[in-house]
Amino acid sequence: MTPAIPVRRRPLVSGNWKMNFDHHQAIHAARDLGLRLRGSDTAAVDISLHPPFTDLRSVQTVLEADDVPVALGAQNCAVEDAGAFTGEVSAPMLAKLHVEYVIVGHSERRRLFGETDEVVAAKLRAVVRNGMTPICCVGETLEEREAGATTARLTAQVEAALGAFEGTGLPALVVAYEPLWAIGTGRAASAQDAEEAAQVVRSVVARARGDDAAGQLRVQYGGSVTPENAAELLAPPDVDGLLVGGASLDPAQFVAIVRAAHPPR
Ligand code: PGA
Repeated sequence: MTPAIPVRRRPLVSGNWKMNFDHHQAIHAARDLGLRLRGSDTAAVDISLHPPFTDLRSVQTVLEADDVPVALGAQNCAVEDAGAFTGEVSAPMLAKLHVEYVIVGHSERRRLFGETDEVVAAKLRAVVRNGMTPICCVGETLEEREAGATTARLTAQVEAALGAFEGTGLPALVVAYEPLWAIGTGRAASAQDAEEAAQVVRSVVARARGDDAAGQLRVQYGGSVTPENAAELLAPPDVDGLLVGGASLDPAQFVAIVRAAHPPR
């Protein structure tokens, strides 16, 4: 879909470390990343790094001390801002560590930890309430794709996410299209699948919030992204970035993916 007013969207490449790296390993990886990134990378691409909670303070210190223009990200947060919620980490705690982006509703959280669309919506509100930008993950299962239900699934998930901000302006929000069958499987979606899904996401936002909001929304693709397929996945006009799992654990691979987001002309 072409928005009424074409908006140039800056690519956002995010590294989701999932449950990998203790804080020593995290310091090492963040330093390595900082040394590899060039000014031309960070001038052209927004980059976020999403370590586990226990690594956040260490990674923050490395990025800030070395002046690395990479945004700190988290992988999840609590619904409530404080209180008797044993084991949870709240959005204000993340904001205090200068976290800028929080992944919300990753399929692993929806599937393994029972996060419903309602929980996801409450977390989206918590992130925005505390001045950070959510990266809201949506995506269909293989069964849903094979049953021709991809559009319906994505539409329902995006509508539920938008419902979190009913009656208010739409805050800065990133949507990551992550088909479940492509996550950690080595089987990435095709660029055409990614573009079609990004168009569905954008058209739902256009219907609910207008063309300007849809034109400004950044939509990432995630699922088995590698340095080899990154350029192709980023080529379609509606794909504005990548959410990278496994390949983000290797700083050299992650930087190669960042570079695919700004190929030399
Ligand atoms: P993957 O994970 O790149 O390892 O497939 C992507 C994600 O789950 O965000």
